[in-house]
Amino acid sequence: MSERVVIVGGTSGIGLATAELLRDRGYRVVVAGRNAERLEAALKVLGEEVEGRTLDASDEGQLTAFFAGVGPFDHLVVTLTARGGVTSLLDLTDAELRRHSEGKLIPQLLTVKAALGTLRADGSVTLVGAVSSQLSAAGLVVLGSSNAGVEAASRILAAELAPRRVNAVSPGVIDTPWWDWVPEEGRDGALTGACAGTPVGRPGRPEEVAHAIAFLVENTYTTGIVLPVDGGARLAS
Ligand SMILES: NC(=O)c1ccc[n+]([C@@H]2O[C@H](COP(=O)([O-])OP(=O)(O)OC[C@H]3O[C@@H](n4cnc5c(N)ncnc54)[C@H](OP(=O)(O)O)[C@@H]3O)[C@@H](O)[C@H]2O)c1
Repeated sequence: MSERVVIVGGTSGIGLATAELLRDRGYRVVVAGRNAERLEAALKVLGEEVEGRTLDASDEGQLTAFFAGVGPFDHLVVTLTARGGVTSLLDLTDAELRRHSEGKLIPQLLTVKAALGTLRADGSVTLVGAVSSQLSAAGLVVLGSSNAGVEAASRILAAELAPRRVNAVSPGVIDTPWWDWVPEEGRDGALTGACAGTPVGRPGRPEEVAHAIAFLVENTYTTGIVLPVDGGARLAS
């Protein structure tokens, strides 16, 4: 029987690309997200062999019911996030800080906790941080601190949850619907501008991050790492 992978956030962007790749590699894939229409659209792309469920991972009651409904599985990938979050400290509001933490760091950790009852005892967890954890550009105080939290958590959980393996990927600018908060007319320019001066010099594709996630799912001797997939953005000053 092929291995089973649950992708929370698998209805869009990097999660959706990961679902497609792992489906093509023969995994039985379950994708989850909050929005039923987005889920339906993702399942049209993914085809009948992929299972989909709605889930708000910020709600512990929903998480418990979700994993009870899914049953035993081998690998957990958590790509969920809040969108946006670029602000200087002076413009930062309490509400924005809470929105981002409650949209990424908190539900990622709650998802891992809720999965432990049904995730294989030597299975894997892959979280998604971001290169903002490494950068010092103005405006990244919320994104950087939230993603540093996710990436630190992945290392700590690798020790705490062993023999389950826990890793994270740390993407740079990736062309996904995450960027929908930028007005459409300026979006291409914003993505390209954000990559100016990076070694690879262009936005990444969700498939390029999915490829790294698949490596972390499959490599049974890799745990406690944060794998950059950022076109070298962390090297740019
Ligand atoms: N795109 C980039 O440039 C970039 C750069 C660095 C890091 N990343 C990170 O990469 C990861 C994937 O990002 P992406 O670009 O693929 O974003 P995306 O296209 O916005 O996808 C996010 C997914 O998470 C789901 N989701 C959000 N909140 C959820 C919740 N509470 N419960 C369940 N599902 C939830 C969304 O579906 P619903 O909204 O329907 O729930 C969607 O399927 C994120 O952690 C992001 O921070 C992205």
